[in-house]
Parts: sequence; C-alpha cells; structure tokens
Amino acid sequence: MEVIKTVERMQAFSLKNRAQDKSIGFVPTMGALHQGHLELVKQAVGENDTVVCSIFVNPIQFNNLNDLKKYPRTLDKDLQLLSSVGCNTVFAPDVDEMYPEPVTKTYDFGMLDKVMEGRYRSGHFNGVAIVVKKLFDFVLPHSAYFGQKDFQQLAIIRELVKMENLDLNIVACPTIREADGLAMSSRNVRLTEEQRQHAPLIYRALKKASELYKTKPVQEVRDFVADTINQNPQMRLEYFEICHSRSLQFIGKSKPEEPVVACIAVHMGEVRLIDNIFLKL
Ligand code: PAF
Repeated sequence: MEVIKTVERMQAFSLKNRAQDKSIGFVPTMGALHQGHLELVKQAVGENDTVVCSIFVNPIQFNNLNDLKKYPRTLDKDLQLLSSVGCNTVFAPDVDEMYPEPVTKTYDFGMLDKVMEGRYRSGHFNGVAIVVKKLFDFVLPHSAYFGQKDFQQLAIIRELVKMENLDLNIVACPTIREADGLAMSSRNVRLTEEQRQHAPLIYRALKKASELYKTKPVQEVRDFVADTINQNPQMRLEYFEICHSRSLQFIGKSKPEEPVVACIAVHMGEVRLIDNIFLKL
C-alpha cells in the first residue's frame, strides 16, 4: 500500500501513470470507509488500470464544528479495507498540504447549492467544490466515482466539471444499503442502539412515497413523509423535497415527464442522516 501525503508526490505518481497510457480511476472520500465506499472502489478497479482513493476530512465543508470534531477517523482500518478490494494507492494529505493559503474562492452553482443541503448547511457545497477541484488537480483522474446517496453533491460536482471545463468522467454509483434498508454512511456508527433500530424508517418512508407518487397528488406524498418521520420520537425532519433530478427544481402540483427524485434529511439526536429515491426514472 502506498500512502502519498504530498501534492508533489501525488502529481508525480499520476503523471507517470498517464505517460504510460494508464487510465486513473479516483474515489474521493473522507475515510471511515464502509461497504458503500468499497463498492465505488471495486467499480473503479474494474474499469481502470490504476485506482487512487483519497482520505481527507475536509474542514471547510463542515458548517458544524462538533460534526467535524466527531467525524470518525479510522485510517489504519481504511487502508486494510482498500487493499482488500485492490486499491493500493491512497492520497492522505494533511490540512496544511491541502490548504497552504487561506481559502477565498467562492463558487456560485445557482439553484443547485441553494436548496436542501445548501439551505441548511451554509458554505458546505463551496467547501466540497473547492476540495474536489483541488483533488482532481492533484490526482489527475480519467474517471471519478461518487455515490448517489449524496445526490445533490453529485449534481454540484457535475456542474463543477462543466464550469471548470475539466476533462474527466463522473461516474454515479448506486446507494449501498444495510439489510434493513438504511443507507450506508460513515455517520451511522454515531447512532445509539435505539436510534439505529429506528433509522430504517427513513428508507421505508421513501419507498412508500415512491408508491404514493404514482397515484396521489405531490402534496399528499410530502405530508405522508413529514408525518411518518415526525411521529417517530427519535426523529426530526429537516427537509423532504421532491425535485427534478438534474436542476433540483422543486416539483409543484403537476408531475413532469423528466426524472424526479425525492431527497430527505433527518436529525436523530446529534446525527444527521440523508437519503433519496427516484420517484420517476
Ligand atoms: O462525499 C464525501 O465524502 C466528500 O464530500 C468528498 C466528496 C470526499 C469531498 O470531501
């Protein structure tokens, strides 16, 4: 396993691979890896000559200091897991290496970063876009792999690639779930046993919403999910939105022909969980 800590060595590694005509697949992560990450890595390993995974807990995408402090950090275990699925190059810089200068850049993604996560986590997507652009510049991938669980993040990254004219392929991979339906997330380990038992309700509500959407008015679907989540004493709904899958514009009364996605964020104690489901493909 090669763990690269500096930008200089990372770029040298990638330039050498590119010079040998090897395709580079890239999986950016913040560590605390779970099966969801490993599925991204497996797909990248199957589709590229070389795969790089980054592990960097990006401070500038956290709008809540407590969340940053409590974010799980499990580097040794992560390295073992990565090598078990065939990824032997990890970029794990420290904060000074990624941010030698104060960050001043601001992206404007229009609607995409104003709604849902953008509304409740101010500055989050700017922090994501800045770090992802830097990581792309350092790793120089041909393809980068992202999970659909972070649906809005995926939309922002596609837009970033367009805005910055980047020559790389963004690969969206399906959400990986526990046997009871809970979307895998590094934050799940912070749920208490009791919260963990209740957490699958989020996906059950989304599945029911996708059934209701076929026959019922949009508002009825919204009300059903809000009531289901808020009636659970362990949960507090932050948002549930039904929107166009590309523009993330909310759906009004009439149901469009284009793909529609429902996105949700729920607080369970100190932990905030997100998930989504396509209501129409
Ligand atoms: O999805 C994540 O884990 C992070 O937002 C990312 C893309 C690695 C940027 O820090």
